[in-house]
Amino acid sequence: MNQPKTSGKKAFRAAILHLLDDPGYELSPMPAEVEYFEDGILLVEDGYVTACGSASEMLEKLPDDCELQVFPDQLIIPGMIDTHIHYPQTDMIAAYGEQLLQWLEIYTFPTEKQFSDPIHAREVAEAFLDELMRNGTTTACVFGTVHPESVDAFFEAAEARNLRMIAGKVMMDRNCPEYLQDTPETGYQQSKALIEKWHGRGRLSYAVTPRFAPTSSPEQLSKAGQLLEEYPDVYLHTHVAENRDEVAWVRELFPASRSYLDVYHQHGLLKPRSVMAHCIHLDEADKQCMAETGAAASFCPTSNLFIGSGLFDLMDVKAHGVRVGMGTDVGAGSSFSLLQTANEAYKVTQLRGNKLSPFQMLYLATLGGAKSLYLDDRIGNFAPGKEADFVVLNPAATPLLARRIQHCQTIAELLFVLIMLGDDRVVAQTRIMGL
Ligand code: GUN
Ligand code: ZN
Repeated sequence: MNQPKTSGKKAFRAAILHLLDDPGYELSPMPAEVEYFEDGILLVEDGYVTACGSASEMLEKLPDDCELQVFPDQLIIPGMIDTHIHYPQTDMIAAYGEQLLQWLEIYTFPTEKQFSDPIHAREVAEAFLDELMRNGTTTACVFGTVHPESVDAFFEAAEARNLRMIAGKVMMDRNCPEYLQDTPETGYQQSKALIEKWHGRGRLSYAVTPRFAPTSSPEQLSKAGQLLEEYPDVYLHTHVAENRDEVAWVRELFPASRSYLDVYHQHGLLKPRSVMAHCIHLDEADKQCMAETGAAASFCPTSNLFIGSGLFDLMDVKAHGVRVGMGTDVGAGSSFSLLQTANEAYKVTQLRGNKLSPFQMLYLATLGGAKSLYLDDRIGNFAPGKEADFVVLNPAATPLLARRIQHCQTIAELLFVLIMLGDDRVVAQTRIMGL
C-alpha cells in the first residue's frame, strides 16, 4: 500500500517559534521579524501550513474535522535546512588529523570509491537520511559521488520519504584517482540524464556539481556552464576558497583568472541557485560578485574548524548583500546537527569580535537557508502556503538542559541555551509535510 504523502487537517499545539524575515543581530528589543507563541497552534491542511497563531485565538476557529496533537512543554520550529553536505561521507565523519587536500586524498577519495555499488549507495543514503531527520534537518543540498548510481540511490531514498532535497553527481576529470574520474563529455551526459530523470520530480531538485576547480578541467567547467544554460532552474553546487593551500593551487591551475571565485564566474557558474560552500578566503571583488550574481554562500563552521580551514566572515559577507545559509559539510564537518553547527558559528563570530544572536542563528538554519536556496516561497517558516516541515524540540531533553532552562527568562535565552547545549537529543520529532 502506498503511504499517504500528506495529512488531512491537523493542528499542532506547543510553543512555536519562527522567523518572518532576517532579524539582524540585535537581541533587544525583540526583533519584529521574530514570531513567538508561548502557547501556539500550527494548522496544516494536506501538508501545507494554513495558519499559525496563539492557541487562545485559534482554538475556537479550528475546523470540526481537524485532528489536534498537543506537545506539552515542547517547542516547534521550522524544519532545518543544511545547505552543504556530502551523503557519501557519512561513514568517514571524524577522520583524524588532516587539512583539506590531504584529507581528500587519505580519507575521502577511497570512501567515495565504494559508491559505484548501488547497494552500498542505497544503504548509506538511508542511514544518512535517518541521521538528518534525527537531527531535525528536513532539506539539504547534497553532494553525491562521481557515480550516477549514487544520485539515483539518494533521490530514490529521499523520494520515498517525501523530503525536499537537492543533490547532484560530482563532476571531476583530473587531479584525483583515476577510479573517480569522469570526462567533460561523460560528466555532461550523465548529469544531463540525471536532470531529465530527477529535477522537479516531487520535492527533488538537481544540482550540477563540479567538486571544486582543482578537480575539473576548464573544458569540464564549460560543460557545467552549458548545463546551466540548458536548464536554467537547476542548482550549481561546489566548493570555493576553503583552504589556503587550495587557493594557491587554483592560482597555479588557472593563472588567467583574477581569483578562485572568478574561475567559476568565467565559466558561467555564478547565478541565482549557485551554492558555494565555505567562501572563507574571498576578497572584496569576490564578495561583490557573489552578491551581484545572486550566488549563495554556505557557512560550514564545524568543518572549517575541524579541518582547520579558517574563520568565515559572516557579518562582512552578509553586509555585501550575499545570501548566506549554513551547512554541516559532513564528513569534513563534525556533526549532523544544525544546532551544533550554529553553536560553532557563534564561536567563529566571537573570534572575529562579533555577536551572533540566537534569532540570527535560527534564521540561518531555517528561513535564511531557504532564501539562499531560493526556496523561501516553499519552506523556511510557517507562513500560510508553506510546506509543513517542522521539528518538535524538547528543551529539557538532558538533565543539564532541564536544570539550565529553569533559569531562562526569555525565548531568546532559551533558544541560545538550546543551541549551545542541544543536538539530536533535543529533537523529539521531525515531521514532513505534517506527517
Ligand atoms: N573540496 C573539494 N572536495 C571537498 C570535500 O569533499 N569536502 C570539503 N570540505 N571540501 C572539499
Ligand atoms: Zn563540502
